[in-house]
Amino acid sequence: MIDVPQFIFATCQVGAEHAVKREAARRHPDFRPAYSRPGFLTFKLPEGHELADDFKLRCVFARSHGFALGGVRGESPAEMACEAWRLFGERPYDRIHVWPRDLASPGHRGFEPAVTDECRQVRELLWQHRPATANVATDDDTSPARRGELVLDCVLVDPGQWWIGFHRARGFGSRWPGGLVGLQLPADAVSRAWLKMEEALRWSRLPIPSGARVAEIGSAPGGASQSLLARGFHVTGIDPAAMAPVVLENPRFRHIRRRAIQVRRREFRKVRWLTADMNVAPKYTLDVVEEIVTHPEVRVRGMLLTLKLFDWEFADQLPEYLARIRSWGYEVVRARQLCHNHQEVCVAAIRHGRSVRPPKPHEK
Ligand SMILES: C[S@@+](CC[C@H](N)C(=O)[O-])C[C@H]1O[C@@H](n2cnc3c(N)ncnc32)[C@H](O)[C@@H]1O
Repeated sequence: MIDVPQFIFATCQVGAEHAVKREAARRHPDFRPAYSRPGFLTFKLPEGHELADDFKLRCVFARSHGFALGGVRGESPAEMACEAWRLFGERPYDRIHVWPRDLASPGHRGFEPAVTDECRQVRELLWQHRPATANVATDDDTSPARRGELVLDCVLVDPGQWWIGFHRARGFGSRWPGGLVGLQLPADAVSRAWLKMEEALRWSRLPIPSGARVAEIGSAPGGASQSLLARGFHVTGIDPAAMAPVVLENPRFRHIRRRAIQVRRREFRKVRWLTADMNVAPKYTLDVVEEIVTHPEVRVRGMLLTLKLFDWEFADQLPEYLARIRSWGYEVVRARQLCHNHQEVCVAAIRHGRSVRPPKPHEK
């Protein structure tokens, strides 16, 4: 018989641990914080819990989560691999994910969360030491898990210490080791915002048709614009700062070199998709975006907004920020701290019909 796991783990960016704990306390008051390290947390589950193997933690700041079976220590990686399988027991699995705990906050001295060579070596070792069972698992570590696959999780928490767990892949983050989506910044990208926009588009799956017109507030120098242009969109970049020449040269790009509040509303009449990534407080971003999307002549269908959390205390206000966006008529509003986000979160919002925008008092 296989034991029911008594703990879950979650991984997050360094600095977000408190935000994860606060969210978990709000959503799952019966989970008790247990062992944790920067970027890695565990919670004790209530006795007799009936969580399914694909349960959703629903924490914006948790990049990945799953059931935790325990920590593994040993004299050598081979010894640790054997111990990992002993902990994992007879459970079925379809693939193995190995990733490291973040060792610094994203951007600190160039740190980017990523699967390392050491992870690839540990994964190979686990694969070699796998028990001889009828289980049919894949050795493929280059593609994301398919939805529904069971994943053996191994987090490299510290030198000589791994944590073993498992989850069933469902949503975006759960299909990649530790939610690390494995994007490489192209050599010609003019800023790392390319990574943020790519990850945001893949996570949100906003149905933006090729050829669509996208307004991008806070577009300079233009990495995110490059990602949008590469998908065939027409991009209007709004930013008082200079765009990179390579972006300006693209015939589908237009620069409005102003602050967002100085842009005439008619510029947004044909815009159905809007992104914002300004280095300002969340309230300012929301004020600016609200002005635009609630204007009677503007019909923005979907948005990707970066909300900068200059202070981690802003994390507690996230439910209110999302409620405010919903009040503009966006039925689906989701947030995630992407692996390429710094101290900020990405919000995706979409509305399905023209009639859903609540009428403004003067329109009633
Ligand atoms: C994080 S950077 C944007 C990076 C950009 N998306 C890219 O792909 O390279 C933030 C930008 O917001 C711009 N910004 C700040 N306040 C703004 C405002 N009120 N209206 C438009 N842009 C603003 C800044 O000039 C800066 O270029």
